Amino acid sequence: MSWTTIKLVDQLVKIVEPSRVKFDPSDLDYYGKDWSNAAKPDPSAIVFPISIKEIQGIVSLANKLNFPLVPSGGRTGLSGGALACGREVVVSFDRMNRILNFDEADNLVACEPGVITGDLKKFAESKGLFYPVDFASSGASQLGGNVATNAGGINVLRYGMTRNWVEGMKVVTGAGELLDLNRGLKKNATGFDFRHLFIGSEGTLGFIVELTLELTSQPKDPTVMLLGLQKIENTVKTLTIFKEKLNLTAFEFFSGTAMQKVIEAKALSSPFDHIYPFYTLVEFENDCERQLNVASALYDKCISSGYVVEGVVSQSQRQAENLWKFREGITESIASHNPFKSDVSCRISKIPTFLRKLEKILGGFSPHFEAVLFGHLGDGNIHINLLEPIEMDSQKFQEECKRLSKLIFKLVQSCDGSISAEHGIGLTKRPYLNYSRDDAELNYMRGVKCLFDPKNIMNPGKLVDI
Ligand code: MLT
Ligand code: ZN
Repeated sequence: MSWTTIKLVDQLVKIVEPSRVKFDPSDLDYYGKDWSNAAKPDPSAIVFPISIKEIQGIVSLANKLNFPLVPSGGRTGLSGGALACGREVVVSFDRMNRILNFDEADNLVACEPGVITGDLKKFAESKGLFYPVDFASSGASQLGGNVATNAGGINVLRYGMTRNWVEGMKVVTGAGELLDLNRGLKKNATGFDFRHLFIGSEGTLGFIVELTLELTSQPKDPTVMLLGLQKIENTVKTLTIFKEKLNLTAFEFFSGTAMQKVIEAKALSSPFDHIYPFYTLVEFENDCERQLNVASALYDKCISSGYVVEGVVSQSQRQAENLWKFREGITESIASHNPFKSDVSCRISKIPTFLRKLEKILGGFSPHFEAVLFGHLGDGNIHINLLEPIEMDSQKFQEECKRLSKLIFKLVQSCDGSISAEHGIGLTKRPYLNYSRDDAELNYMRGVKCLFDPKNIMNPGKLVDI
């Protein structure tokens, strides 16, 4: 341990008890990284506070001694937002994971930020309610991280992003002040709502130290259709047909390559006799007999228009879950190929143009790279993953991908889209933020950062710097 680290640890153990300050190389490595693996972790220490008071103590010390802090949840992010690669102190919320209070009259639940997303979903279920934010990593991600990145996922089409469910929030700003924001109010017309600045701020303004989240009623009998398609443009045509008459809870798409990888990795059998170039997965609430008839008529329309070749529909919750496995298993099934990930969005009306041009761009690269396309088409979010060829040097692959990435971002910009739909900017997309935000907006973002974190101690190097 270096002399500076010894001095730092000496100070930290005055705020949190010594067993909750870690600096073993294995802990530094484990807590210093996230799922992006975008840089080598190099934090100086990891602390595990158990109270708001302790967090205020850590922030005050960081301001006094001028060391950087990285807020840390489940570290399931894919843009390096929770990476600590510059001698930062990682502040882990693993020990602040209690559900504090549930109010039936309000349908509001107060929680500490370290509660695992899936645990809140189970808690809601135990009350006969539903927490609708859902994604493949919900078994590991924490609520504080979800709010800090405004997490999206598979149900955004129906329920919106995490932002929609945050009714109150306590934060400790980078300057060390505790703010109690909105306090669970539905109506509150008293000026700037700072809650919304902290949602999606990626830990750059301060720490989210308590959350008040809203629960809703459970969807009735979610039913899933999986459809096989020949052409990418038919995905949007199918969406338009289904959206017209059904209240969809999800509309996902994925390519045949994605299907193939999931089938191989998870030893599943294909629901159809052969692999289609594209698939869409449609989910709707089957809350009355009529809905299934409507869905079936819409399916017939897609078949007769030639948009869909064939499809299957779930007859039970178990079958619905099994169909979801083909979509939800994609990320895990391609992880060993060291994929280069892009997560972009544009308005549904621009998606056909976007996809057509994207196919052209990818076509130019296809001799070298296998592209796996999937995403939440219903909300305009496309995930583009490129698999690293076994025979290619990793560094060369990264360089090629950066080149391709810029072409994709230029296309996104020309479609008025976003270079990050739901994975955030973090470390990896920071150099490209100007493809989605103009100079004036970036200046205001820096101004906001300066206001809440004047000494730039909060997650420096991520999202926006001053
Ligand atoms: C997903 O939709 O599965 C997630 O955003 C994860 C990913 O893009 O790999
Ligand atoms: Zn996604």
